[in-house]
Amino acid sequence: MNQKIVWVSLLIIALFIQGCSHCKGLFCTKKAEQPKAQTAVVNPNGDSELAILMRRMTDDLEAAKQQLIKGQKARIKGDYKDILTAKPTSPHMKNEAFDGFAQSLLYQMNRFSAIGDVKSYNDVVHTCIACHNQSCPGPIARIKKLMIYL
Ligand code: HEC
Repeated sequence: MNQKIVWVSLLIIALFIQGCSHCKGLFCTKKAEQPKAQTAVVNPNGDSELAILMRRMTDDLEAAKQQLIKGQKARIKGDYKDILTAKPTSPHMKNEAFDGFAQSLLYQMNRFSAIGDVKSYNDVVHTCIACHNQSCPGPIARIKKLMIYL
């Protein structure tokens, strides 16, 4: 009887440990910490030039959005010409459509810099989404949050 309990306990412990290594175990204590640890090291191989540029554009647009919401005119100070040459995480991310979308983004960015209103700002965000529909749908939800609905 006692021996049975010991074996059952060992089995449960074994399952627990195994579950935890995948972080799917019911009592997994790592669950809460693991995502944090993963995002801390964003990409151990270094982030691609293109991904870094994308993040910079996102931050710059977010700053512009805050100004526009307050009723101020906004300016984009960044220079994003490197979008044409920046290396992506993997080559297939730059498909045939990429350059065309990149050119229209640069055009809309210049236009927004000149006009600085909500309409020209939203035109930029639409261009972001258009390219992402083609080559990289993952960040679209995040990009949509940049839109300004008045
Ligand atoms: C010409 C196509 C194109 C346009 C235009 C474009 N993107 Fe991207 N974006 C990409 C590709 C491709 C990636 C993947 C880059 C990589 O992983 O190397 C990406 C990645 C991203 C990421 C994820 C970066 C990360 O952390 O890995 C964000 C956020 C992003 N873009 C936001 C934007 C915003 C905001 C705009 C508009 C200002 C925009 N993108 C315009 C193609 C585009």
